[in-house]
Amino acid sequence: MTGTGSPLGAPAERREGRQKVTGGARYAAEHPLPGRAHAWPVPATIARGRVTAVDTAAALALPGVLTVLTHEDAPRIAEPDDPTLAVLQDPRVPHRGWCVALVVARSPEEARAAAGAVRVEYAVEEHDVTLRADHPGMYEPDTANGGNPARREHGDPEGALASAPVRVDTAYRVPPLHNHPMEPHTSTAHWQGDRLVVHTSSQGTTTVRATLAALFGTPEDRITVTAGHVGGGFGSKGTPRPDVVLAVMAARRTGGPVTVALPRRQLPTTVGHRAPTLHRIRLGAGTDGRLTGLTHDVVTHSSRVKEFVEQAAVPARVMYAVPNSRTLHRLVRLDVPTPSWMRAPGEAPGMYALESAMDELAGELGMDPIQLRLVNEPDREPDSGKPFSSRHLTQCLRDGARRFGWAGRDPRPRSHAEGPLLVGTGVAAATYPVLVAPSTAEARALPDGTFVVRINATDIGTGARTVLTQVAADALGAPLDRVRTEVGDSDLPSAPLAGGSSGTASWGWSVHDACARLAEALAARTGPLPEEGVTAHADTTGRADADSPYARHAFGAHFAETTVDRVTGEVRVRRLLSVYAAGRILNARTARSQFIGGMTMGLGMALTEGSTMDTAFGDFTESDLASYHVPVHADVPGIEAHWIDEEDPHLNPMGSKGIGEIGIVGTAAAIGNAVHHATGIRFRDLPLTPDKVL
Ligand code: MOS
Repeated sequence: MTGTGSPLGAPAERREGRQKVTGGARYAAEHPLPGRAHAWPVPATIARGRVTAVDTAAALALPGVLTVLTHEDAPRIAEPDDPTLAVLQDPRVPHRGWCVALVVARSPEEARAAAGAVRVEYAVEEHDVTLRADHPGMYEPDTANGGNPARREHGDPEGALASAPVRVDTAYRVPPLHNHPMEPHTSTAHWQGDRLVVHTSSQGTTTVRATLAALFGTPEDRITVTAGHVGGGFGSKGTPRPDVVLAVMAARRTGGPVTVALPRRQLPTTVGHRAPTLHRIRLGAGTDGRLTGLTHDVVTHSSRVKEFVEQAAVPARVMYAVPNSRTLHRLVRLDVPTPSWMRAPGEAPGMYALESAMDELAGELGMDPIQLRLVNEPDREPDSGKPFSSRHLTQCLRDGARRFGWAGRDPRPRSHAEGPLLVGTGVAAATYPVLVAPSTAEARALPDGTFVVRINATDIGTGARTVLTQVAADALGAPLDRVRTEVGDSDLPSAPLAGGSSGTASWGWSVHDACARLAEALAARTGPLPEEGVTAHADTTGRADADSPYARHAFGAHFAETTVDRVTGEVRVRRLLSVYAAGRILNARTARSQFIGGMTMGLGMALTEGSTMDTAFGDFTESDLASYHVPVHADVPGIEAHWIDEEDPHLNPMGSKGIGEIGIVGTAAAIGNAVHHATGIRFRDLPLTPDKVL
């Protein structure tokens, strides 16, 4: 911490940085517990059917094996709200990779070897894992993820499109995508008498504790769930996953501590994925570029286990002024693993499609794509009619254009080549909603002049404990190094998960309030503090969850320069530059990391990441990091993330919007638009791998 004045906004270094790089930070599998055993799940090898027999004799005879849990003898649990957690409760196999047995052994190696020796027999049923836009089982759900209505209509979109002088009617496809955090989903569970202690890799342990209490019939005050350090999640650790349920079951069976660390190859079927989305977008505009009609129809899949609807048509309700519109989601339930949240669910695939279609419309109009966006700026949120609390997309586009050097661009496709390389540039907008949830927090002043802030926030690698310390120091009027922040333990004051880019806003609000209250109490006091210090509490229930009269969203603009090799079909991103308007930025260092991390993930979505459903086996073909290609350093150029100072009084005491997800939103469109500019060819099926481009 350098400089004077408020610590808010300063590029403070991560408080746990030293611990992480020296190995002192403990992750869920790394808590030293004497006598700890290790468990390895046995995944179903059929896509649909029933387990008819499990022969564990050979596995039990192997060295180090303690027990094997099957659906016949695993501890019974109450019916979970999330049916993906009902593991080892019955013989049904709803998709390939569903857990059908769990081997517990002294070491991970012995558990893995024994898992391979478990013999499972099945009654196999026909399966269907193929998503098609004309699937006979397709239906319109009531709501999509996030509680969004599945369908919204305004005016007469069909009429408006029919009479529009300029039209685009186009289709895009985003494949299944996998979260693949560096640290796989891992849980260590230990029953100590009637107390349960769990170390888990989760985005929020308040939820994990509540879930385990319900499933195992144990009061919450006898359960402690910690997640002190988490190696990423990207949504896939937003809710408890089977690893934590299996670990608790196994620990109950053996009586000692048990770790379940999901093997990388089991993640795609077990922890959720971004569901594939098929998009049809129609845009109608006047010759001046003003939109008159828009339809965005999304078809996506979910499993037989649970309805999850990727809300990819939702951003079209936010972005552009258009009097006649329809945004619609339809779903096909297939024998596939259950999809779930992956960084910017809805917005990431939806804005790929919408921002690609806007680029196509700009081409039809012969209009600069930035200008097209400017003429369609709404003065209110199109769907709700609410005023925006703040919306600086125009400034992001203009500032980005200046920084990127957009002026003087030759708009003609395929107009620039360097030897075998075709060079192009593209632009796209970004948006992400401002979400916030109630939280509690505690702040304490100690006689030695230091402060302790306690809150069950989760730092999944974002720098949450650092930024919360800044919020606290700011509200206390204290230097940063006087404040210690405890997070990642369900015994701390309860707090919502690190998800929906809502963590800092939600936690920060209660930390701010607790610290402001403490500062007041201290100001009213005279004399030395008592030994136990002075404590203040805050609970933002009823305020952080109140409906706002404003439409609240962050916005941004991405600019990409790509090269396309005419000989190999290889697309490379040369430059990626984005400008965001996301309220007040609370830590310039960790915010930049969030932005460029999201942009890198968007680059992966554009060029390298994609999963394929093997129709014969009914499973994802790309199940490890050798086949599912996340971008590596050599794929990623210098990335620039900038932001404009945005003051918005309608958010929270810090004035911040979420920043964790917006970086991935629209990035793939900017890159795809640059590829179109380079080649003159519009590719509409991600990722843009050489086999498609050549
Ligand atoms: Mo994020 S996909 O809401 O963790």
